[in-house]
Amino acid sequence: MIKPHGAETLTPLYVSDDAERAELIKEADNLPSVLISSGAAASAVMLASGYFTPLTGYMNIAEAVSVASEMQLPNGLFWPVPIMNIVSDDQLSDRIKNAERITLRDPNVDGNSPLAIMKVSAIEQISEEQKQLIIEKTFGTTDPEHPGVPAFADVGDNVLSGLIDVLNYSYFPTDFPGTFRTAVEIREDITKRGWETVVAFQTRNPMHRAHEELCKIAQRDVDADGVLIHMLLGKLKPGDIPAAVRDAAIRTMVDHYFPENTVSITGYGFDMLYAGPREALLHAVFRQNCGATHFIVGRDHAGAGDFYGPFDAQTIFDDIPEDALEIEIFRGNWTMWCNKCNKIIMMGDCPHGPDDYFSISGTKMREMLGAGEQLPPEISRPEVAEILMEYYQNEAN
Ligand code: ADX
Repeated sequence: MIKPHGAETLTPLYVSDDAERAELIKEADNLPSVLISSGAAASAVMLASGYFTPLTGYMNIAEAVSVASEMQLPNGLFWPVPIMNIVSDDQLSDRIKNAERITLRDPNVDGNSPLAIMKVSAIEQISEEQKQLIIEKTFGTTDPEHPGVPAFADVGDNVLSGLIDVLNYSYFPTDFPGTFRTAVEIREDITKRGWETVVAFQTRNPMHRAHEELCKIAQRDVDADGVLIHMLLGKLKPGDIPAAVRDAAIRTMVDHYFPENTVSITGYGFDMLYAGPREALLHAVFRQNCGATHFIVGRDHAGAGDFYGPFDAQTIFDDIPEDALEIEIFRGNWTMWCNKCNKIIMMGDCPHGPDDYFSISGTKMREMLGAGEQLPPEISRPEVAEILMEYYQNEAN
């Protein structure tokens, strides 16, 4: 099986030994504690799950600047996005400043219970200059209108770095019991299924017909034994479709339109960054960690609005060292409905032109649903459209 990133085996930071974990949970209540941001909590879940192998905790400022500027840690490890724990001044009591170990409390569960214990290596004040540099390099913009920038810019100035032991997977196993999986579990499942070539698909949307076809084309072209649909289960920007609705839509689509036992539907606990190209690289890292041999990157991968060019998230893979990743990238061209072919095509695979095409995107789908319009079969499978329509009629807005 493909090796994890920068390691021989996965390094999940979840404390899996029951007795040890029980001890730490008891201790966590007595240690000084900070309430961390949703982004930092999601990073803890990713670290716990083995997806962020071989990282051992949160980065300090020098590491984060190195990752943002050079896409590598000072020790040379390829890493595309800073993984940081930044808190505001009101979280920093003298007790915290003097502590060797602190409890990180979870902002996303009732009662803000302990999520992890951190061995504090440093508490540093980040300068405005350093922060802007990290944001600019990671997101390609410092525009506060970008949906991912405020989550980073507005959390405070105190960078807490150090190793962590993670005590649970936050709300993900309870809210998504059938879908949330760790990298360890996915590797085990791939082995059990006997798959050798596995193509992973990232999504934060219910799958429209272009998504479906993209998976099928990739599976065919790389001759994959299976497709790993690996959806984001964390926080999204307003207007995106919640994970539970998306999960139901995807399961229905797979049941109806994919051959049996060719797809594994799973999810991971991370908040969407909308960092386009850099996020695509991070996505590739953690798909390698969960054992996929190939990763699909299509049009405007992990993008939002017009912040990135439609294929920037593909070309960035040309700019990284050849040995940075083992996973291979399947580059998907625009995929859409062709009126002349009377089916979904990938641009370049049919002789027709823009006048014959009916473009498909998650944004368009959400806009139509928001306006109460039926999704046509060129955009969505009817079974999927029904689930989405119901959500929009009852809960959205
Ligand atoms: S993402 O933010 O998770 O990337 P989305 O769920 O819409 O958004 O996309 C999942 C994957 O499908 C990404 O690789 C994206 O580039 C690709 N994709 C979505 N729509 C199309 C399309 N019409 N043509 C080609 N690729 C697409």
